[in-house]
Amino acid sequence: MNMFEPIKDQIKDFKKIVFVTGAGISQESGIPTFRGKDGLWRNYDPMKLATIDAFYDDPKLVWEWYNERRRNIFAAYPNQGHKAIAELEKYAKVVVLTQNIDGLHQKAGSTEVLELHGSIIKIKCSVCDFKDEISTEFSEIPPICKCGNILRPDVVWFGESLPQDVWQKAMVFASQCDLMVIAGTSLVVSPANTLPIYAKQNNAILIEVNPEITEMSSEMDLVIRNSSASVLPEFISMFKEN
Ligand code: APR
Repeated sequence: MNMFEPIKDQIKDFKKIVFVTGAGISQESGIPTFRGKDGLWRNYDPMKLATIDAFYDDPKLVWEWYNERRRNIFAAYPNQGHKAIAELEKYAKVVVLTQNIDGLHQKAGSTEVLELHGSIIKIKCSVCDFKDEISTEFSEIPPICKCGNILRPDVVWFGESLPQDVWQKAMVFASQCDLMVIAGTSLVVSPANTLPIYAKQNNAILIEVNPEITEMSSEMDLVIRNSSASVLPEFISMFKEN
């Protein structure tokens, strides 16, 4: 039986589709997740690497970790899950609200992507308002701004707020969609994990794509316990048949 059988008849009604994605959707591109059974955090203490205090305490350690992530991400390619989401734009209005900083949705061809937690290629000065995008390795760690202060990754760390303009738009998209597909996220980090609640309040259908159970599995209309790269192409094929 087609795993999406329960919603097959509603496919033609889905006109505004929002994807909420996390590290799991890039796992099959070779980028480790943070949590879950083979999560990256097992080797690192999140509070030692992804907080502003940790950065000021040991900027070199944090930059070594981010440089390793940059190397990993620059060598990665979008997988079938990213590509399926990009292809869906031919059949419906699609917005991707991603917690990922790897840029793989954009590389796959998605045109409406909100990066809730920033981007691995973006950097900013920890003091002045200098910002830039760098897709090459840094020769020195930590990199120094021309004002003399340390540059930092332009990502959202624990305890920091999301860029307000991005978050406001994300809430509006979540509140107005008729289908939300939550793929590859444990939904443990706020406020991204509130997006399915906004969608549900608007009577959207919620679909979870994740090999493991999440904090909000019980709220979903349909749960697909499988990997996004194997599931999403099948999901998109139903729109082609319509
Ligand atoms: N397909 C779909 N889901 C998968 C796959 C896969 N191939 N592999 C793993 N997963 C699932 C895991 O079961 C887990 O539920 O992806 C989820 C990844 O969860 P996390 O590692 O917690 O990643 P994420 O939810 O994106 O974390 C949110 O936490 O550390 C911060 O800022 C960081 O953006 C990140 C945020």
